[in-house]
Amino acid sequence: MVLVAALAGFFGGSSFAATPGGGIATASGVSASEQTCRACHSIDTTKVGPPFRAIAERYRGESDAVARLKKSMLEGSSGKWSTGAAMPANAISDADAERFAWWILGIK
Ligand code: HEC
Repeated sequence: MVLVAALAGFFGGSSFAATPGGGIATASGVSASEQTCRACHSIDTTKVGPPFRAIAERYRGESDAVARLKKSMLEGSSGKWSTGAAMPANAISDADAERFAWWILGIK
């Protein structure tokens, strides 16, 4: 059960299964969608999109952060960050978007 394994990794705290842009491969490998994120994002440096750490800092503490990040990933986003680029809608599932949102918000 991949999903159970992913959730176990997530709630286990120390080893995340979801690593968009993180570069940490897991036993189950890195999904195609995570590779796609890495084309435009990294943890600490601005590529096409803003660094995941900066996103975490901006949204952490907002009660609807997960919902907002999910919406941006699923529907695309532009004008919120001054990278001069827009994010197209990503072809990921609702569950993956939620997983990525939680993972990003967990970056310290
Ligand atoms: C084609 C490049 C590209 C790809 C691929 C991409 N992003 Fe983005 N991403 C961007 C850009 C550019 C922004 C800034 C958009 C803006 O200014 O509103 C962004 C913004 C974001 C934000 C912040 C949205 C907000 O509301 O502030 C999140 C979260 C995010 N990306 C996650 C992801 C994840 C996870 C993936 C992979 C599933 C991904 N991105 C794939 C370019 C990309």
